[in-house]
Amino acid sequence: MKAFVAVTFALLVGCVRGESSVTDGLSVEDMLDKCMDGRHHKTQPGPEGSLYRQCSPWVDRACCRASTTEQLHQPLWLNFDWHHCGQLSESCERHFMQDLCFYECSPNVGPWLVPVDMQIRNERFAGVPLCATDCNRWWTACKDDLTCSGNWGVSWNWTSGQNTCRQGAQCRTFQDYFGTPSNFCRNIWNGSFAVVDDSAPCFTLWFNGTNPNDRVARLRAEEIVSARGGAGSVGAPHHPLLVAVLIVMTVVFGRGILS
Ligand SMILES: *[C@@H]1O[C@H](CO)[C@@H](O)[C@H](O)[C@H]1NC(C)=O
Ligand SMILES: *[C@@H]1O[C@H](CO)[C@@H](O)[C@H](O)[C@H]1NC(C)=O
Ligand SMILES: *[C@@H]1O[C@H](CO)[C@@H](O)[C@H](O)[C@H]1NC(C)=O
Repeated sequence: MKAFVAVTFALLVGCVRGESSVTDGLSVEDMLDKCMDGRHHKTQPGPEGSLYRQCSPWVDRACCRASTTEQLHQPLWLNFDWHHCGQLSESCERHFMQDLCFYECSPNVGPWLVPVDMQIRNERFAGVPLCATDCNRWWTACKDDLTCSGNWGVSWNWTSGQNTCRQGAQCRTFQDYFGTPSNFCRNIWNGSFAVVDDSAPCFTLWFNGTNPNDRVARLRAEEIVSARGGAGSVGAPHHPLLVAVLIVMTVVFGRGILS
């Protein structure tokens, strides 16, 4: 009985506090049919007639529009300058371009969305599991290039309207700033990616044909819903009646024990 009261109480606290996350109350299919709430994103993924160059893999089902993919291949998309310590090497730049296409186009980040309060978006993805092989290639292409920041998501001087090096932040190699491939992939965008072994379900930024990340996103969405005991799949999170019932039960059974 004590255990029952404890569990009920825990549920109650969870319900009342209503810990908010973007995926709360979304069904598996909702999570898989949602784009990030960002400045240029569509609301829901769908086919595009064609997508520009490195963004073309997402043409069958994309969160970006064709016009966006053309514009983002120009310098300073979202006022972000990759070349803040001089021009990046061509191979490193190609990886950042692929990452940018993923950011704008991927229809697979729904299960990893969290709220943020920024001018360019109201949501970000956090901890998307990137395949170690993908991460290693990105790292190998960039490790000898130069940067002045070990976290491109946060540490900049934006006074001029685009990112410049903070006072005292020196231009050094990616190797100096990040040390290892997994530190690099994890920290470059402030935890947007996590790095996982290729044997686990993981994302790739480079593919042709069928999007291999569809399966990975579905697995994660199913995991999220089953961790809620399936309750969220009916789309009624923190239902007031449930809260009321839990309050009554906690009081009644709690009294029973104490008296
Ligand atoms: C930011 O850049 C401006 C010039 O654009 C400079 O005056 C200012 O000192 C810089 N601030 C920092 C913290 O680097
Ligand atoms: C960077 O990540 C930290 C930790 O997750 C988070 O608290 C912070 O809001 C993030 N900043 C931005 C600009 O995304
Ligand atoms: C995709 O196709 C291009 C052109 O045929 C090829 O160069 C590239 O290696 C392929 N990439 C992947 C990840 O299969």
